[in-house]
Amino acid sequence: MSLQDLLTWAPAGSREASLAREVDFDRLPMHVAVIMDGNGRWAARRHLPRAEGHRAGIDSVRDVVEASARLGIRVLTLYAFSVENWKRPPAEVSVLMGLLKKYLWLELERLHDNDIRLQVIGCEDRLPADVRRELDAGRERTRGNRGMLFNIALNYGGRAEIVEAARRAIENAVRPSDLDEGRFAELLYTAGQPDPDLLIRTSGEMRVSNFLLWQIAYSEIWVTDTLWPDFRARHLLEAIVSYQKRDRRYGGITQPVAAGG
Ligand code: FPP
Repeated sequence: MSLQDLLTWAPAGSREASLAREVDFDRLPMHVAVIMDGNGRWAARRHLPRAEGHRAGIDSVRDVVEASARLGIRVLTLYAFSVENWKRPPAEVSVLMGLLKKYLWLELERLHDNDIRLQVIGCEDRLPADVRRELDAGRERTRGNRGMLFNIALNYGGRAEIVEAARRAIENAVRPSDLDEGRFAELLYTAGQPDPDLLIRTSGEMRVSNFLLWQIAYSEIWVTDTLWPDFRARHLLEAIVSYQKRDRRYGGITQPVAAGG
């Protein structure tokens, strides 16, 4: 996307418009991953049930997915449900699954129109059958799209992913001498995708919470106090502007953030 396109989309005089002028479109992060956190606190501050925080979080998902695609981000990964989230009360788990299903049902055509390809990372076996059906329909509908890849992390755990990849290596009889980092990465859910350049976490917590443990080895981390239901495109732009000011060293010498990561 060009600055001109972005300015057409961002309201004149808005924070989005002024941030857009700061973004270098030739050096966008290729892959942005987000730990969406703070839905419960958002609800508690308003004396609302936690479910309302999750419901409000859907508006943020919609805004961030669309803004990322417009900007030209190649891959967006949202952490929607972790392997640990099953420990929450069944009623809350059920609200989250219901919201996910509703989101997919309501947004699928919009995702498709925006040339977005949907993919799931995580172990889908344990997800309710109706959610799996909706995910299948989403993947099938968007299979041929060539715009942004949208990964939804569902029943996802970074350690579980690594263990599963190790199992697959053994099952496929990969010879130890053939197993290097590149080969191992091809056994992960994110095979073929670039690693996240930018990891965003909302609600001020300084943790990675078992998210993309292998893939975030060299990601730049940006944490905001903003709670997920308040997170919008302008926060994404803030994160990108901050990312573009960093030096990525990969354990070596200073390198300014390069084109595509
Ligand atoms: C963290 O807030 C948020 C989650 C565990 C779920 C995020 C899920 C959604 C926004 C809905 C479905 C997603 C998609 C992609 C359609 P928290 O409940 O841990 O908040 P707290 O730390 O303040 O309690």
